[in-house]
Amino acid sequence: MSENKLNLAVFISGRGSNLQSLIDACKDENYPAQIAAVLSNKPDVQGLERAKKANIPTITVSHKDYETKQSFEGAMLEALKDYPIDFICLAGFMRILSPHFINHWPDKIINIHPSLLPEYKGLNTHERALADGKKEAGCTIHYVVPEMDSGPIVMQKKVPILGDDTPKTLAERVLEQEHIAYPEAVRLLAKAKS
Ligand code: GAR
Repeated sequence: MSENKLNLAVFISGRGSNLQSLIDACKDENYPAQIAAVLSNKPDVQGLERAKKANIPTITVSHKDYETKQSFEGAMLEALKDYPIDFICLAGFMRILSPHFINHWPDKIINIHPSLLPEYKGLNTHERALADGKKEAGCTIHYVVPEMDSGPIVMQKKVPILGDDTPKTLAERVLEQEHIAYPEAVRLLAKAKS
């Protein structure tokens, strides 16, 4: 671990392809951030395998093991204390964080969302964009605030919606841009902090 890089914790819940884009970006020695830990709220997901393959410490805190959001988040905060973390990147992390957790890391949590916010907050973004006959879709990196998918925007990338798109084809086109956007956004934030 280098001393003058931004230390990230990446939170995931599944496949972890956005995590992989960050892992790949961090392989460049000139990239200004490094991943100190990967936290998953689900055991045995592909993203954890990706982290282990890259020799990144992993933390699993299953929300199912806790009766309340408060105790689940308390366990996450406790586990994170073992790592030097400057910034948290939510990358397909499918739990809504409480104001209590968010206020622990003021202006230090970002999320990637598969729509052009403020349009299509929440789930099934591609289905809804297609149903509305939209011509453009995309992804957004934004700061996390207590209101879901609503914090200040760091970066957006747009893609066209094509006539024969299905939710799957559109999701794939947007995901390609997600993988470009997240490392770029982290680079911007790291530069701003240095
Ligand atoms: C990504 O498309 C991400 O934008 C989305 O989940 C997917 C995770 O894929 N996130 C959300 O919908 C958050 N509300 P990944 O696990 O392969 O990175």
